[in-house]
Amino acid sequence: MQVHLYDSAAQVGQAAAILIGAQLISKPNAVLGLATGSSPIPTYQELIRMHRAGVVDFSSAVSFNLDEYCRLPESHPCSYHDFMHQQLFAHVNFAQGNTHVPNGNAADLAAECARYDQAIAKAGGIDLQLLGIGHNGHIGFNEPSDQFVYGCHVVKLTQSTIEANRRFFDSEADVPREAISLGIGSIMNAKRVVLLATGYDKAEVVRRSIREDIDPATQASILRTHPNVIILLDRAAASKL
Ligand code: F6R
Repeated sequence: MQVHLYDSAAQVGQAAAILIGAQLISKPNAVLGLATGSSPIPTYQELIRMHRAGVVDFSSAVSFNLDEYCRLPESHPCSYHDFMHQQLFAHVNFAQGNTHVPNGNAADLAAECARYDQAIAKAGGIDLQLLGIGHNGHIGFNEPSDQFVYGCHVVKLTQSTIEANRRFFDSEADVPREAISLGIGSIMNAKRVVLLATGYDKAEVVRRSIREDIDPATQASILRTHPNVIILLDRAAASKL
């Protein structure tokens, strides 16, 4: 596990974009695992800049997002479909049909989870998985538990995640209570994992994930057993290490 420290969230984003850009240069048809939330926004901004500068080309790349809320229309401004469109997909040149986000509106959510895992396997697995981390240690929406769940699955969001994500919605009541998430197995099968954490509010969970026992109560702690994980932190997020 490598841990790199930066002075600002913008620099964390630049470092992550360099890693993703290098991945696309060395393997133009790379399979990228993508995340939503505040943490990757500077990364996506930098990737857009690199793309506009002619340095990074997404035309052969494939992406799979980590998660999506259940029963929220794709066109809703808080859906992860919409987030990815606004923050990245509308500004770079992925080929149509090469970007994937779980369908949280599928009639049969269990079948959708199985289909999503199969689609990743059929694409050859994820080359680089970008991750943020929740205040409770979740990666994707793998919430604190007494076990690690291997495959894509439907998750009941914890109260802490509902409260954390409430900032994007009109009210807490509007935050969906369920989501589809890649499982820990799918994340751990990625050839490389890049985890971003910025801000003082992530310092405690970063410390727990890196310094304490591997424990499904802090799902991100499992990443320490991954052979190729790079953690990019700003000084605030690293302040309790
Ligand atoms: C997002 C995701 C979540 C977030 C986490 C941190 O696709 O899977 O695990 O990465 O909740 O969110 P932010 O970056 O908003 O603090």
